[in-house]
Amino acid sequence: MPTKIEKDSITGTNTTGHEWDGLKELNTPLPKWWLYVFYATIAFSIVWMAIYPSLPVTGARGLSGWTARGAIGPALEAEKAAREPMLAKLRAATPAQIAADPEMRAFALAGGRIAFANNCAGCHGAGGQGAPGGFPSLADDDWLYGGSFDAIQHTIRHGVRNGESDEARGVAMPRFQADGLLKAEQVADTAEYVLSLTGRATDAAAAQRGGQVFAENCVSCHGEKGEGNRDMGAPRLNDQVWLYGGDKASLMRSIGWSRAGVMPSWGGRLDPATVNMLTVYVHALGGGE
Ligand code: HEC
Ligand code: HEC
Repeated sequence: MPTKIEKDSITGTNTTGHEWDGLKELNTPLPKWWLYVFYATIAFSIVWMAIYPSLPVTGARGLSGWTARGAIGPALEAEKAAREPMLAKLRAATPAQIAADPEMRAFALAGGRIAFANNCAGCHGAGGQGAPGGFPSLADDDWLYGGSFDAIQHTIRHGVRNGESDEARGVAMPRFQADGLLKAEQVADTAEYVLSLTGRATDAAAAQRGGQVFAENCVSCHGEKGEGNRDMGAPRLNDQVWLYGGDKASLMRSIGWSRAGVMPSWGGRLDPATVNMLTVYVHALGGGE
């Protein structure tokens, strides 16, 4: 390739000396200032990569030792320190005292909402509305164990049938059919009787036979009229609120094989201030007593 540098007669600019079939290339280099800025950015990036963690490798650190997590630490500490006086107050107060103090109450409701979303919503629903399969609504006034501050707090602290806490809530209902305590027909009759408690029985004779079985086997926990018993967590059977379904098939399953809802204990997992905030929050969901 010929490399004859010459001045282009039209633009007055030198050519590079390259020529293809009579076409010549003008030599118009990048402006110097642009080029130096470009080199500077390259140099800057090398220095940057040396100082800060920039390689996509777990645990990679730059010469400065800076990390994003380390940088947020003091901010989190400051945040915690700012909250601590209020948390100390919440720890020392009873839920009733918290609810009566507007400032503590506002803090507890906000904190309780977040703690509920993190720990409870998976079972009890985002708004505490409950879920099918034995997860009770916490937003109504139908309580298994009671809706007072003390009762709610005890339930949260110790949980239900979890084998974690000696003070956990809930007795075990016998498995009447599975363990041969009642025959299948008796279970069906008893289910019919339970339906009659809410005026839904379709077989009066069966319901009457079931009433006999109920009186002998069930009233000790569920009460004479199926009104339930909070000491045992035996649900009310004469209302329309069901943990496991109120149709005949679900009732027969509940009676024959029994159910045993489990809730973890939170006393050992959450800060006492958080348990208090949750208590006030749940109490305020609508059904607090
Ligand atoms: C693994 C699922 C699960 C989680 C998580 C859970 N619960 Fe429960 N909770 C249950 C079940 C199941 C019951 C009902 C137990 C029964 O059948 O007696 C219950 C019952 C309750 C009750 C008693 C309601 C009543 O009617 O007396 C309260 C109060 C409660 N939970 C609050 C909470 C709070 C607050 C949290 C979060 C810190 C929480 N639960 C987390 C499963 C859960
Ligand atoms: C030792 C006490 C005990 C006895 C006796 C008992 N139950 Fe229960 N029953 C419970 C408890 C506690 C629960 C709640 C289980 C749960 O929450 O997981 C329950 C739940 C139920 C449910 C489900 C309620 C719902 O909301 O879904 C039905 C129905 C029921 N029992 C009917 C009966 C019948 C009928 C008998 C008699 C044949 C009986 N129970 C005897 C304690 C008892």
